[in-house]
Amino acid sequence: MKDNLIFDENSYTVEMLELEGKNLVYRAFEGIRYLNRPVDGKMQILSIFVPEVFYKGGSIGAYNLKNAPIFFQNTVGGYMPGPSERPGRNFMGNVNASFEALLHGYVVVSPGVRGRGMKDKSGRYIGTAPAAVCDLKAAVRFLRHNAGSVPGDVGKIISNGTSAGGALSSLLASTGNHPDYEPYLKAMGAAEESDHIFAASCYCPITNLDHADMAYEWEFCGINEYHTMKFGYPESGEDKPEITSVDVCMTDVQKQMSAELKHQFPSYLNSLNLKDEEENKLTLDEHGDGSFKEYIISVAAASVQKELDRGTDLSGLDWISIQDGKVKEIKFDGYIAFRTRMKVTPAFDNTAMGTPENELFGTEDLQYRHFTQYSRKHSEVNGELADEQQIRMMNPMNYIEDKKAEKAKHFRIRHGAVDRDTSLAVSAMLAVKLRNNGVDADLEYPWGIPHAGDYDLEELFTWIDGICR
Ligand code: DHB
Repeated sequence: MKDNLIFDENSYTVEMLELEGKNLVYRAFEGIRYLNRPVDGKMQILSIFVPEVFYKGGSIGAYNLKNAPIFFQNTVGGYMPGPSERPGRNFMGNVNASFEALLHGYVVVSPGVRGRGMKDKSGRYIGTAPAAVCDLKAAVRFLRHNAGSVPGDVGKIISNGTSAGGALSSLLASTGNHPDYEPYLKAMGAAEESDHIFAASCYCPITNLDHADMAYEWEFCGINEYHTMKFGYPESGEDKPEITSVDVCMTDVQKQMSAELKHQFPSYLNSLNLKDEEENKLTLDEHGDGSFKEYIISVAAASVQKELDRGTDLSGLDWISIQDGKVKEIKFDGYIAFRTRMKVTPAFDNTAMGTPENELFGTEDLQYRHFTQYSRKHSEVNGELADEQQIRMMNPMNYIEDKKAEKAKHFRIRHGAVDRDTSLAVSAMLAVKLRNNGVDADLEYPWGIPHAGDYDLEELFTWIDGICR
């Protein structure tokens, strides 16, 4: 049979780009099909970008055409489709990570992946879970299939993504070669190769969705006002979206659900059997207090300390006690009030449906489904519950202990200190479970950062250079 998944080294353009005084010359291989039988031929393509100097026998730092790490960047947001992206500016007008990564000497691979809301010609949904992660896996397999000819080192694939994209990055990195995904990859005609990766950068992973509602209420129960922003698409002639604020108080029914969900969290958390670096158990009592909460506080305290060390005056924040330039105490309730609540209860599996996650767990012909027993039981729309296996395949926590899943060696997880899109517990549970299973996982809650990604590329690249050495 003819192999259609061969990388064509001769099909490229050379591009020049100057942004903010920095000049980049790169080779662009675009519109590459990574599947034999794509479901959507326009979205399921990838691009490869390479510093042009590599083709002149040159190098950037320690990197050249053969050994450069592959920065595998997804653009998924809100679990919507994430198209392949060129170096340039992002939707907020900022220079994107691909541009900076090329300047730094990485090969950039940008796969387009399916997401919620996508339909085929006959109106069937084609981007529901686990579509996006299967597409990422197929793109990785394509690179490995062409290991001898693609630029960069396929042994050093580092995935990067933010929010839903950060969740996918963590999922891709936790589930390498797991048989659960095999039937989907086979059906689309993915290359028969390994799909494990070397490392993952995950900004605010909106993950562990089936326990995210209870984690959210563990954190925010008692805070009954929620504050969020509505993004309108840019009007023609404008390059930035219109942003309006929404401030609402929860109803009595929602407050009751908040208390019930909060109450469910400790038994889930305790079932994970997490331990800190000194092998102390991380647990919660029935009130939601205990060593796991102290652990979250310690991560927050490290973030505050880093900011103090930069010389920032934080004396106006009454939930932080500081003595001689050192953090002495963080009051959890004060910190959470400072963060503020963003989402109404239940934050992800809404009883009235309509969240990005309800749509993620839809089917070919059903737009929204529930994915927790709790919201199914309290459904205001008599919604269906998603299949167990579909829910399972979207949660990296299910694969970390599973020997059949080849894990990435390194994870870098960041959750902004004032990012309220999901609970601080979600990133912490992921990082600690990885560490408990022998995986290197670096976790921080960077000070002052809201829901965002790619805001510390210098630090990210230093981390990548360190693990690739
Ligand atoms: C994203 C943000 C959310 O709050 C969410 O529930 C899902 C995805 C995002 O920005 O990708």
